[in-house]
Amino acid sequence: MSSPRFVSSPPPPSGDAVQRRPAKSRFTYKQLSQLANYSTTTPLRTIAHVDLDAFYAQCEMVRLGVDKDQPLAVQQWGSLIAINYPSRKFGIGRFNTAAEAKALCPDLICQHVATWKEGETKWAYHDDSFKNMGSHKVSLDPYRLESRRIMATFKETLPKDFQRIEKAGIDEVFIDLSAQVHSILLDRYPELSGPPPYDDPSECLPWPSGSVIDWQADNVIDLDSKETEIDDPDWDDICLAVAAEIARDLRKAVWDKLNYTCSAGLARNKMLAKLGSATKKPNGQTVVRNRAVQQFLSTFKFTKIRNLGGKLGDEAVAMFDTDLVSDLLKLPIEQLKRLGDDTGSWLFETIRGHDQSEVNPRTKIKSMLSAKSFRPPINSFEQGVRWLTIFAADIFSRCVEEGVLENKRTPKTINLHHRHGGSVRSKQIPIPQGKTITEKILLDLSKNLLAQVVVEGRCWPCANLSLSIGGFEDNVIGNMNIKGFLMSAEQMKQIQEKGSLEEDVESDSEDEKARKRQKTEDHGIKRFLGGGLSRQASSDKPEPEVGTLQETSNGYREVDGLNVCVKCGEIIAEDDQTEHADWHFAKELDEENNHAIINSRPQINQQKTTPGLPAGKSRGRSGAVSRAKVEKGQQRLMFKNG
Ligand code: CTP
Ligand code: CA
Ligand code: CA
Repeated sequence: MSSPRFVSSPPPPSGDAVQRRPAKSRFTYKQLSQLANYSTTTPLRTIAHVDLDAFYAQCEMVRLGVDKDQPLAVQQWGSLIAINYPSRKFGIGRFNTAAEAKALCPDLICQHVATWKEGETKWAYHDDSFKNMGSHKVSLDPYRLESRRIMATFKETLPKDFQRIEKAGIDEVFIDLSAQVHSILLDRYPELSGPPPYDDPSECLPWPSGSVIDWQADNVIDLDSKETEIDDPDWDDICLAVAAEIARDLRKAVWDKLNYTCSAGLARNKMLAKLGSATKKPNGQTVVRNRAVQQFLSTFKFTKIRNLGGKLGDEAVAMFDTDLVSDLLKLPIEQLKRLGDDTGSWLFETIRGHDQSEVNPRTKIKSMLSAKSFRPPINSFEQGVRWLTIFAADIFSRCVEEGVLENKRTPKTINLHHRHGGSVRSKQIPIPQGKTITEKILLDLSKNLLAQVVVEGRCWPCANLSLSIGGFEDNVIGNMNIKGFLMSAEQMKQIQEKGSLEEDVESDSEDEKARKRQKTEDHGIKRFLGGGLSRQASSDKPEPEVGTLQETSNGYREVDGLNVCVKCGEIIAEDDQTEHADWHFAKELDEENNHAIINSRPQINQQKTTPGLPAGKSRGRSGAVSRAKVEKGQQRLMFKNG
């Protein structure tokens, strides 16, 4: 895309240009003032999306102190999960195995991710971890820590009154710069400070004085065909130019302080900003001016647009027999509504560059999960406890890191999912309130939960264990009595001696069975939209290959900062992941006519509507854990030579 570095100065006062130029700006005083309170409807709205380049790879480069031109990839078991830009020149991608990549570039450094070694309480970089998938568990802590430092740098760099930042994934943020831009405009352009003529906010603003914009090294998207570069920049262009300065400062701060490069997109909404940030990687920033939106969008396949990368996009491609934005633009809204009324309307607006979703500073996390699939499976309580030790340490360190302890936001429940053959057992107990959580408390509770499973018998071999804490919202346990879960000393002794207790598995009450049936049926009609239209994947990345043996953790992989369910491709908010996994579980059970034990799960959050979704749409809910699980921020990995 060829781009002018500058928007031209006002044209000479002759001919066409004079006639085309209206007396005043296209924008009103009201639209300007709306910037100050982050209105999502003002056409002057100014959003940034900032995404770290090859993030995990950069983390390793910084940690190892390697030269910026050194090809480096991050390896997880035999696969690659991040590839730095020097190695991309060799044609290496996430689709390659570590061995293939080495063949393409013998100089490549393949750094394995950090792992927790079975029984240890701290993750580390182990030289032999790639050979020990059975006894190691991947840790993304190093990247989470760097992510936090980067976030902190963004916050330090932005004025403290203007910090509307949404962390949209481990390596990306949206920032609503509207209010900051507004304040800078008032400072710089005295013509804006007076009251509107006749005190009428619907009056148009005067033209900006001094209309040369210095875009510096920015990639400025070409204007739509009906627009011309000699048109004067209006206030929307000025807003983006100011935003571009801010983005440059943010990127520079991250570089100066932490040595990471990132790329940015500046536009009037999140969708366009996100597409923009991916346009000039690495270390570039792209400005999508309002008058360039149509041109910019028409260069994309619509499957590249946020929320159209997954099932919805596929469905649209199949239905309209095209993947081009330009083809869809020709269709009337009624045609698009064949996808459903809400979806059709949303799509109609989206391909025209409209998106009013808010930048939502979700600072509070709602749940955390740590899990591991075992191949070979594990066979004793003791072995289970060794993994629980890791899970508890993992979750605890994330509690600390998230500032949960300082905020005195203690989770209310702890859950254990245990998989044995075709059945998953799910146990949950309240976390005692009123005292600060410690690693030991988490470990003791999780041991208690595992013991409950063991007490029920028939639990070995175990193919998957997962521990989660949650209930930061109203996720309290109904009328369960904690004493009901505690084992007698005799039972505990028996477990320690024999590894299990021979006891009958509790059968479900009729109520419980009816509830499960209902749950399964409720979701039989669930379609992609229910999983979150505005949060659905835009998987610009190739689909990871799925092999028989995977590093499995929580059933989600991060695509463009969203947690995508590996089973159905839906985007699931972090706090809804357990629920969603439960739905899959129930569905699978139903399909296989299988029997599983799901104990005493409270019914929570029914019909919860996700912000940004069309009203009335809901998503999955509670039950047990699903089978194939992937840690957040990781892809499902193909296991070779296993
Ligand atoms: N990631 C992953 N699995 C995926 C997608 C992403 O494990 N399917 C991890 C990657 O390791 C990556 C980080 O999440 O480093 C951020 O992902 P993304 O921004 O999509 O890619 P980057 O590697 O940062 O590369 P880019 O420069 O294209 O942003
Ligand atoms: Ca990235
Ligand atoms: Ca990203």
